[in-house]
Amino acid sequence: MNLDISRQTLPASDAELLADEARYCSFGDTVHYSEPPKIFARCEGSYLFDTAGTPFLDLQMWYSAVNFGYANPRLNEVLKRQIDTLPQVASQYLHPTKIELATTIAEDAEAKWGNSGRVHFNVGGSQAVEDSLKLVRNASGGKSLVFAFEGGYHGRTLGASAITSSYRYRRRYGHFDRAQFIEFPYHFRGPKGMSKEEYGEYCVAKFERLFETEYNGVWDPKAGQCEYAAFYVEPVQGTGGYVIPPLNFFTGLKRVLDKYGILFVVDEIQMGFFRTGKLWSIEHFGVKPDVLVFGKALTNGLNPLAGVWAREELINPTVFPPGSTHSTFASNPLGTAVGLETMKMLAETDYATMVARKGAHFLAGLRNLRQRHPEIGDVDGLGLALRAEICEADGFTPNRKLLDRMVDIGLAGELEDNGKRLGLVLDVGGYYKNVITFAPSLHISSEEIDLGIRLLDQLLTRAKRG
Ligand SMILES: Cc1ncc(COP(=O)(O)O)c(C=O)c1O
Repeated sequence: MNLDISRQTLPASDAELLADEARYCSFGDTVHYSEPPKIFARCEGSYLFDTAGTPFLDLQMWYSAVNFGYANPRLNEVLKRQIDTLPQVASQYLHPTKIELATTIAEDAEAKWGNSGRVHFNVGGSQAVEDSLKLVRNASGGKSLVFAFEGGYHGRTLGASAITSSYRYRRRYGHFDRAQFIEFPYHFRGPKGMSKEEYGEYCVAKFERLFETEYNGVWDPKAGQCEYAAFYVEPVQGTGGYVIPPLNFFTGLKRVLDKYGILFVVDEIQMGFFRTGKLWSIEHFGVKPDVLVFGKALTNGLNPLAGVWAREELINPTVFPPGSTHSTFASNPLGTAVGLETMKMLAETDYATMVARKGAHFLAGLRNLRQRHPEIGDVDGLGLALRAEICEADGFTPNRKLLDRMVDIGLAGELEDNGKRLGLVLDVGGYYKNVITFAPSLHISSEEIDLGIRLLDQLLTRAKRG
């Protein structure tokens, strides 16, 4: 083996790193949104810093994985302590924080929804989604079909991409049983002349129509059985563009699911941990999940940890026995220790009030910006999950090119505020890839929110010039 690392003794320049990346890194595990791709070297609070030390205000916090700010001292400290105490242990053995974290999540769920349940850990979000698929298949006697929403995103492993709406993620690789995708009440682009609530009711009625007769393809009235085991939902769509449905929508949907014996699986991987102002975003909608999947911000982007909470009937050891799923790094102590500290922090601080207040401030700033830029067709927000839809000057036709230019200008790090040079990190989402999906740190200050709005103004003004 010829392992020559001598040339790695000096810090490589960005140009050298990019040349090696082009030669040695698979591109299959990334998306290069800007050309050349941006390299970051350090982070703190709401900022990323590039190798030249330029600060970039991050308004997307790693797709909402870092809700509590980069380099959060309290959470980082717990991770460092755990490294020196018990960094890893095979999953056949127990360690305290795994049990304490599962207990905290399960007790909270029982207090909120009156259902006892259990927590099952894995590493990444997609893996937890895979585990949830096993749970629902098992509980439904092996049914392998599920419903999911148009615009939904549940991950890119084979099982998770089968229930993610974009065919793009399946085209080359085939899929396991693909979900039946149901219309989501995306009101801004819905039929004209309907209120948001009416559109939600319309979507529920359209879904319920599937059960009217066996000829609609999903229901056997003689056996009283649906061919589909579960409905997978993101209460607020994430990758789909932070689309917030009407508040009465899920009560209508859940009524249909209960009537026809279909499990309700809630994916909180992106919207959980107070992104929307509640621990779980489904809490805004007054319905109870049968299964809830979480990940990302549980560990604030430190050691990965994801998991599933399910009702006791679905997950007790008799029906879902030991070894039903396994990963070497499932319930890893580094992740469970940080996750437990996150839950303690959430219990000690009034995040609900704080996130609602900051979200209202941010949304007011976006509304103000829309007054000055007709290209912002729609703005909306729930807590600190906010959206701005970038359009042509008609305020409706999606303008992906303009948004791509905004992202590039933000990443160039050449914006100016009060004589200071800085950049802006934005994320792109939406059915037409024209939505800025804002997921700032929940600890963002008022001054940083105002700065973000000023930088967006500058960015949009420059991007419109071409
Ligand atoms: C709603 C939702 N589900 C599942 C996933 C997949 O999680 P991971 O990327 O950790 O595999 C994501 C990731 O963005 C997500 O937003």
